[in-house]
Amino acid sequence: MKNKKIVFILALLAASTSVFAQKAEGLAKTPPMGWNSWNTFSINISEELVKGIVDKMISSGLRDAGYNYVVLDDGWMLRERDAQGNLVPDPEKFPNGIKHLVDYVHSKGMKFGIYNCAGTHTCGGFPGSRGHEYQDARLYASWGIDFLKYDWCSTGKLNAEEAYITMRDALATTGRPILLSICEWGTYEPWLWGGNIGHTWRISGDIYPCFDCEDRHDDGLPTQWSAWGVTRILDMRDNDELRKHAKPGAWNDYDMLEVGNGMKAGEDRAHFGMWAMLASPLMLGNDVRTMSQTTLDILGNKEVIAIDQDTLGIQGYKYQVLENGWVEVWLKPLAGAKWAVCFLNRGAEPAKLNYTGFANEIKDSLSGLTLNAKNNRYTVRDAFAHKDLGQLKSSLKISIPSHDVVLLVLTKK
Ligand code: GLA
Repeated sequence: MKNKKIVFILALLAASTSVFAQKAEGLAKTPPMGWNSWNTFSINISEELVKGIVDKMISSGLRDAGYNYVVLDDGWMLRERDAQGNLVPDPEKFPNGIKHLVDYVHSKGMKFGIYNCAGTHTCGGFPGSRGHEYQDARLYASWGIDFLKYDWCSTGKLNAEEAYITMRDALATTGRPILLSICEWGTYEPWLWGGNIGHTWRISGDIYPCFDCEDRHDDGLPTQWSAWGVTRILDMRDNDELRKHAKPGAWNDYDMLEVGNGMKAGEDRAHFGMWAMLASPLMLGNDVRTMSQTTLDILGNKEVIAIDQDTLGIQGYKYQVLENGWVEVWLKPLAGAKWAVCFLNRGAEPAKLNYTGFANEIKDSLSGLTLNAKNNRYTVRDAFAHKDLGQLKSSLKISIPSHDVVLLVLTKK
């Protein structure tokens, strides 16, 4: 009798998937890489655009450099659900539906991402998933979606952690492994809970393609909002706190890239290099069909990508501030006892350093890993210049142009 009861209770528990629901494991062992439509195209997206982007990602080598997710952001659907409550892809933008495009992307060896929102409406005013989470998750799974970016507009008094748990559980019941990209902007400290729910979580409001500015939107909206330049996003949170929560399968997301969207080449390098130091997702936000060779050289730089994609998954940290605050030295421990070192010059003037910071042992208190150039030999490689700089000496001559980085990889011999 007792045994029968236990079996019954176990059966009940098994049937209620949400008891066991968890995020899809094994995804995003390194920060996700890909392309997202929003930064350049806003809601002006279409099947033709996405196919053109995919084709260029392949012919330019970006897919093979690791950018394998193609993510349709806001604007892919009609303004109303159908009579059954299903989301409807905009037939003018996507005449063959979304499944057709997903199949196309899969046939090219890439993965497909889509966007929606925890609130009643997306940030662009399209139908959000609130109250339709399981229905929407089933639809995405039936299309073969691999990635969901889930936003935070029109959420009223919703509890953020709970809202993202609902979507995590909805995705889990489909049985399809779908990467969940939490886009909550950092308001409710998603780094504290995001790792159990999704694979990445935004830490800031939207990025803007400038090195150091705030793009204010007053627009007559009830609440004012701003988009932020590169250094504003770097300064927005306590990175030492954030890095405690980053690990394989769970990453702080500093927002999609603005490389190739109007900043100077050095600023693009600084942006890209710092995102790699922070182990942020690397989601291209430019029109790769028309990018310049300089942009491709930055985005396709495999040495910098390797820093981002390092298998240890330890987010870098600010080690020193020099030159009256204009120069920062960031460190990131890498697999194989290597270290990435990024000298970031935020100032308007070039900086020339005779850097002696490696004279004593450096210990990352989070990982416990040490960089000890006193007792070990390290060789130095410049990741943007693609140059070997020989053995690390007690003092290192470094020139960093204004608004640029010098990004080095130290390898223990
Ligand atoms: C929010 C997000 C952006 C983008 C837009 C779409 O602002 O933070 O990344 O997805 O919504 O409307």
